[in-house]
Amino acid sequence: APRCVVAVDGPSGSGKSTVSRRLARALDARYLDTGAMYRGVTWAVLRSGVALADAAAVAKVAEAARLESGTDPDAPTMTVDGVAVDAPIRGPEVTAAVSAVAAVPAVRRLLVARQRDLIAAAGRVVVEGRDIGTVVAPDAALKVYLTASPAERARRRSAEDAADEAATAADLARRDTADSTRAADPLQQAADAVVLDTTGLGIDEVVAELRALLAARG
Ligand code: C5P
Repeated sequence: APRCVVAVDGPSGSGKSTVSRRLARALDARYLDTGAMYRGVTWAVLRSGVALADAAAVAKVAEAARLESGTDPDAPTMTVDGVAVDAPIRGPEVTAAVSAVAAVPAVRRLLVARQRDLIAAAGRVVVEGRDIGTVVAPDAALKVYLTASPAERARRRSAEDAADEAATAADLARRDTADSTRAADPLQQAADAVVLDTTGLGIDEVVAELRALLAARG
């Protein structure tokens, strides 16, 4: 199958994960969740007991951690040092700490390099994250930037996590600010990204729109 990289960026709750997995399935491609990699490193950092503010120590933990990303869109998995961390990396402790870990430049350098290797090995792959179109895969065949209104994003996230909507909205706002204002590879739209506001749109509509865009590009 020909190589094809689709970059899907956007803030959390924009529908990135659901849309990316569905698109990968439709394209018979692999799926790479780069957020899971940052969460996996964060899990290792919390387990190690090093202080989040100690960037050098955080970077050391990241370098030592053995990450394995399962890229099946039907069942993506994340393993760190042989431990399946799919549940704990979605928990409140990791979610509260991940933006701090993801802001450490050495951690980003390391994970961006691994992501490029995984993308090269996969060939056909839908990659979701914050900096895929801008940093990780600037030559992607299609770059998508998904957004949704803050209220819609909080509603989706709290439904997923069975969490309180107000608390979720506050957490999303905090991570958005941290992710967009950090010095290293902040969340931003690539100049050549297609911006899609998914507020009020169903998953099928979004996936169909992206497939049409890809088809139009040959
Ligand atoms: O997408 P998800 O919410 O799982 O990402 C968790 C966190 O990982 C984000 O809030 C962000 O701090 C970081 N991240 C990143 N760059 C990426 C993907 C995720 O900085 N490409």
